[in-house]
Amino acid sequence: MNHEQLMKQYETIKARGKKLDMSRGKPSPEQLGTMSRLLTAVIRNDECFSETGTDCRNYGGLDGINEMKRLFGEILNVPMEQVIVGGNSSLNLMYDTVARAMLCGVREDCKPWCKYDQISFLCPVPGYDRHFSICELFGIRMINVPLLSDGPDMDLVEKLVAEDDTIKGIWCVPKYANPSGITYSDEVVKRFAQLKPAAKDFLVFWDNAYVLHDLTDTPDTLLEIFSEAAKYGNEDLFIEFMSTSKITYSGAGISCLASSPRNIAHILSCLKVQTIGHDKLNQLRHSRVFRTLEDVRAQMRVHMEIIRPKFQLLYRVFEEELSEVPGVTWTKPNGGYFICMTLPRGTAKRVVELAKDAGLVLTAAGAPFPYGQDPEDNILRIAPTYPSLNELAEAAPLLCCCVKLAVLEAAQPKVEQNAQNNP
Ligand SMILES: Cc1ncc(COP(=O)(O)O)c(C=O)c1O
Repeated sequence: MNHEQLMKQYETIKARGKKLDMSRGKPSPEQLGTMSRLLTAVIRNDECFSETGTDCRNYGGLDGINEMKRLFGEILNVPMEQVIVGGNSSLNLMYDTVARAMLCGVREDCKPWCKYDQISFLCPVPGYDRHFSICELFGIRMINVPLLSDGPDMDLVEKLVAEDDTIKGIWCVPKYANPSGITYSDEVVKRFAQLKPAAKDFLVFWDNAYVLHDLTDTPDTLLEIFSEAAKYGNEDLFIEFMSTSKITYSGAGISCLASSPRNIAHILSCLKVQTIGHDKLNQLRHSRVFRTLEDVRAQMRVHMEIIRPKFQLLYRVFEEELSEVPGVTWTKPNGGYFICMTLPRGTAKRVVELAKDAGLVLTAAGAPFPYGQDPEDNILRIAPTYPSLNELAEAAPLLCCCVKLAVLEAAQPKVEQNAQNNP
């Protein structure tokens, strides 16, 4: 199709006046609807007690009720003593971890990060925009590190952390990374476990948000980080995070963090000043609905059945519409919430703009990069989970049309130049 024909197709779709949103990785109403039993899991006064007899309506229980500590411990494959249960958001726990390190230091014997002139974080890219926003808010310098197909470029990570003690942290989404969907290989995890940072208060933010979020029957597997790190006495480097945001309710789930016994003790000593305890009734409701790890896995299969057709629909349309377009590729992850599309250099912003003008909201181009700046302007994060299948069937051809238009526009000057040079 030439530019004129594509433009005609674009205008026709635009004239339908549909409003579609594929901008954020949210569960759909249908997914949320599968958890209604959670709403009524605890309804009577005599049901409000945890297995140790704690009255979940009252104060206390800083690290969470045993049932949830045990369940998270099983999911992450760490001892329950090394788990702290939080509120509804793991992002909140990550923010608090940075804020605590800033104000109080990573451990008792560490200088608060805010006392340094300059501190930096390594940011594997493309990555999760909200990780980068935390750094931006606190004025932490961000250093891009390429995220390869098996994890961050470890040669670069090892070199940078060894030679620069202003580097205090790294953001990692080790399984089904947002947005590229890759999972860290065993080798990458082992190299993380042996990391030798120059800064003694260096922290790896091991954000395992998609630990259970498979999309296929051939899921990825991830080595458990703490037992690997223990081989090198390096457990203190890691804080792991996850939540039930995309298992139960994204606005009313349960989060947790896991770390070494030493880190857990320090975190609790600070946390006790911040709160007397998180919402234990919600923890209790979750533990009543999920009595075993297998109950959680069953719920994840329910999600998979809802989400998988949405990904498959997009793959089908992309294959039909884009397989011949030079420089356009997309991921087909085994899990997670995103498809990541790579475009020819300098076209991602234009695709987002064209889509927006036609009523389709995409994640801002550049969002998966620190400061919202994609140096190549060629990465699109596509979030298929929230729209219905019917909406996706409308959105997908429009997205492809925008991609083809942007690619053609970018190639146009070259075509014109060639025509001038070879009249
Ligand atoms: C990698 C990653 N971490 C954390 C979150 C947010 O988690 P929570 O809802 O527990 O704050 C998301 C949400 O999209 C995510 O993609």
